[in-house]
Amino acid sequence: MRKRVIAGNWKMYKLLAQAVDTALELKPLVANANHCEVIVAPVFTALKTVSDRLEGSNIKVAAQNCAAQNDFGAHTGEIAPIMLKDVGCSYVIIGHSERRQFYGETDASVNQKTKAALAAGLAAIVCVGEMLAEREAGNAEAVVQAQLKSGLEGLTVADMERIIIAYEPVWAIGTGKTASPEQAQDMHVAVRKTVASMHGRDIADRVRILYGGSVKPDNIASIMAQPDVDGALVGGASLEAESFARIVNFDR
Ligand code: PGA
Repeated sequence: MRKRVIAGNWKMYKLLAQAVDTALELKPLVANANHCEVIVAPVFTALKTVSDRLEGSNIKVAAQNCAAQNDFGAHTGEIAPIMLKDVGCSYVIIGHSERRQFYGETDASVNQKTKAALAAGLAAIVCVGEMLAEREAGNAEAVVQAQLKSGLEGLTVADMERIIIAYEPVWAIGTGKTASPEQAQDMHVAVRKTVASMHGRDIADRVRILYGGSVKPDNIASIMAQPDVDGALVGGASLEAESFARIVNFDR
């Protein structure tokens, strides 16, 4: 049985006090959500305070990116996975499409960052997803398969136990357009198949695959009803505690 995961990606929103307020407001609203893991991903500058304030709660903290190195060194502007672990993170999001599109992230850097994150004891939420033109050309599955093959290359089965995959079609992120539940299900099956080809059926059956892209309180239930959808990575609708809590508690 795969434990579900609902993760909120706060992107570049919220000053420190606002991040703390949202986290504290969320805490009681999801306190009984034993049916899933609840994760929030604030900006770097809020990670330490938010994770301190959430200590002892069932909400885990994720960073939105990390460096590909854990050794201290001359990497101006980078933050090592061990530093994220040090301030209370349990997870890190890697290869979000905004980073791939606008900040030069590649499958190769996703692979290096994922390995560094795992080495630091973090679990990694690795994002994949096709652009609209790729879907329209009928290449969506091939694109996602290629991202997985390079992004997860060289990982062991034990490493895969600490990987969560987020399928986020780029055309659905922040656009109000959601993949249909069937489109999500079909891609999640394809993702599982790719993982099986790389690491065997057993791990493919256990890996959690989240859907992301315009998930809202009113569409979460139909997405979660798909057998291969194990949770959601939520952007815009995670910024307000009340709306994110409705997503977490979608079946209550
Ligand atoms: P969205 O973002 O829910 O605002 O579409 C999802 C994401 O980018 O993870």
